[in-house]
Amino acid sequence: MATEAFAPAKINLTLHVTGQRADGYHLLDSLVVFADLGDRLWLEPAGEMSLRVTGPFARGVPEDARNLVWRAAELAGVSLNIRLEKILPHGAGIGGGSSDAAAVLRHVGGRERAAELGADVPVCLSDAPQRMRGIGDALERVPGVPALSLVLVNPGVHMPTPAVFRALTRKDNPEMGDLPLWPSRPEFVAWLSAQRNDLQAPAIATAPVIRDTLAALSGEAGCLLVRMSGSGATCFGVFASDAAARAAAEAISAAHPDWWVQATRSIGSAPG
Ligand code: C5P
Repeated sequence: MATEAFAPAKINLTLHVTGQRADGYHLLDSLVVFADLGDRLWLEPAGEMSLRVTGPFARGVPEDARNLVWRAAELAGVSLNIRLEKILPHGAGIGGGSSDAAAVLRHVGGRERAAELGADVPVCLSDAPQRMRGIGDALERVPGVPALSLVLVNPGVHMPTPAVFRALTRKDNPEMGDLPLWPSRPEFVAWLSAQRNDLQAPAIATAPVIRDTLAALSGEAGCLLVRMSGSGATCFGVFASDAAARAAAEAISAAHPDWWVQATRSIGSAPG
């Protein structure tokens, strides 16, 4: 019997680039949340590794040791028969392969070695809101982050993360500072509006369609905030309600049938 695993989309609500190490990796300060939308995996112990990729974004995804899920199983020292259903676009700033790899580690063990698979894999081991610092390795849970009604939009451009980091001119931007205790969702959204994704401007310089994506989101009724996630090109809008998010997603989809558009909810902090 195969075990089913879920690999939620990762959204960088903020992404401050605060420095660069001698080895080229960037220091980040990012508030990360997860969506109730993601890839699905089926894992089954097997004599030797095998991988089959299906779903709307299966095209171009390797079915061998180049795939992070394969490498995650090897790292954990297990042989699996894996089916991976790609619901999320990849190379898209929303976790993709990192979340898939983390889902494998969650189910078969080996969490402590997650960072070996990529800077974004450790944060994807939990679906709780987290502050990610260092190069992605320093994680802390953030209390009081509300669940948000979101629309995710990807205009279909594949963003090479290293190139976007290279195009960033200032590497020593201010960090988020002490996180406040947000008494309610409006305060959270007001605070979030004052934060940044420092990779947004260099990503727009590389792929100007990202500016159109942000404009399409912010033009919809009930949109409170728009920003790019990760190194792009997926952008998110925070909406006043699930109904407003659904209506916006339908309108953007109708105007841009070739874009990937999804209404979703993010997972908030556990109460208490
Ligand atoms: O670790 P991962 O393979 O996900 O990172 C992809 C690329 O993104 C790295 O090769 C590096 O160019 C860039 N990166 C960075 N600083 C980070 C994370 C990623 O410069 N903290």
